[in-house]
Amino acid sequence: MDIDRLIKKDEVHRDVYVSEEVFGLEMDRIFGSAWIYVGHDSQIPNPGDYWTTRIGLQSVVMTRGKRDEINIFYNRCPHKGARIAEEGCGHTNGLFRCPFSTFNLDGKLRGVPYLDGYQDTSFDLTDPRFSLRKVARVAAYRGFVFASLAEDGAEFEDFLAGVKSSLDNFCDRAPEGTVSVAGGVFRVVQRSNWKIFFENLNDTGHPIATHESSYRAARQYSEEVLDGELPFELHIIDGNGAPPKFWSDLDLHAFDYGHSYMTAIFNAPDDPLSQQYFASLAAKVGGDRAEEILAVNRHNTIIYPSCSPHTSFQQWRVIRPLSVDRTLVEIFTFRLDGAPDELLQRTFTYSNVVNSPSSIVMTDDVHVYAECQKGLSTQGGDWVSQHRNAGQDQPYSGSEGGLIGVGTSELPIRNQFRAWHEYMSEGSGQSVSPEAS
Ligand SMILES: [Fe+2]
Repeated sequence: MDIDRLIKKDEVHRDVYVSEEVFGLEMDRIFGSAWIYVGHDSQIPNPGDYWTTRIGLQSVVMTRGKRDEINIFYNRCPHKGARIAEEGCGHTNGLFRCPFSTFNLDGKLRGVPYLDGYQDTSFDLTDPRFSLRKVARVAAYRGFVFASLAEDGAEFEDFLAGVKSSLDNFCDRAPEGTVSVAGGVFRVVQRSNWKIFFENLNDTGHPIATHESSYRAARQYSEEVLDGELPFELHIIDGNGAPPKFWSDLDLHAFDYGHSYMTAIFNAPDDPLSQQYFASLAAKVGGDRAEEILAVNRHNTIIYPSCSPHTSFQQWRVIRPLSVDRTLVEIFTFRLDGAPDELLQRTFTYSNVVNSPSSIVMTDDVHVYAECQKGLSTQGGDWVSQHRNAGQDQPYSGSEGGLIGVGTSELPIRNQFRAWHEYMSEGSGQSVSPEAS
């Protein structure tokens, strides 16, 4: 396939969203090589715990071994092919068992029934090909576990580069310096291509129109029922109705490999709970350091092509492509270890208001994604615009490097497609540094 014909400097061809052939190539060349988020080590605290998920279309099992090590296996019995674990979290008491074989926690085949019958055949209990197959590379940073299905490619920390600071801030906000997955997981299946969701995450051009119905409803409720008060839940929704200058004054930062982040839309309220939390953090790290940590206030960070942490409210969204026009988004909520329990309740509130399947904010977005997918499937035009502020992005002089753009620039979208182009041209692992265009 001629990848170059699908992408221009500030436009992409609609086939990148609707072609089954492009989707198949993406699963091979992007999800088959990039560092993909698999899970957090707090989901498997004890040996034998496991978390079953996907890397691209590949079912995989992340599990903790006897020596506390984390292994990630393809979810396939090497003997007959059955999956060894159902999706989700679970615990196995020292061995994985499918209907045909058993395996130790390190993936080694332990046994098959009627072993006598295998004499004088090529079946060999000690042959690695009859043990669970590990994915090529596994790496973790501060508890966040990623894997690559390719032997070669960028080193994990080079891949993270400019967004490593978001993971640091995510954890530094915890008095103990660590975070843990709390509660369950929200799952939303979107009727749209996976890239549309990523494009939206740092697109500040959309809230004022896409979320008009929800922020107007929040304001109306505040005025008519609450005498103008704006509790935290409504404050979050109201933020989407900020005027244009508010959005353009934000900063957008873009980095290698399609990553980016935007500065925060709103702060946590200055209330007794925030003060109690600050005291718990300051008690551990000192007041100056606590202020420094909380001064890093970001909205969505994008770790392309698999996840998006929200550092200020401890949300973590995982993007799992299902097919060319179906995308599963999983939303995890984290506890800041050592912080007051009430802070976790605020985190859940944020998740319920913004990310739950019944959120009146997310449903706005999901509806628009589906409309884009439907429109792109017509023959009404071949190209999709990414022109806004193209050519105006500047190198960032701060230590993180990368590019910086005005808050309403489509810099993050162009940046994602630069990485997309590099991966799809089978150039994964090489630098995909964005260049000021
Ligand atoms: Fe939105």
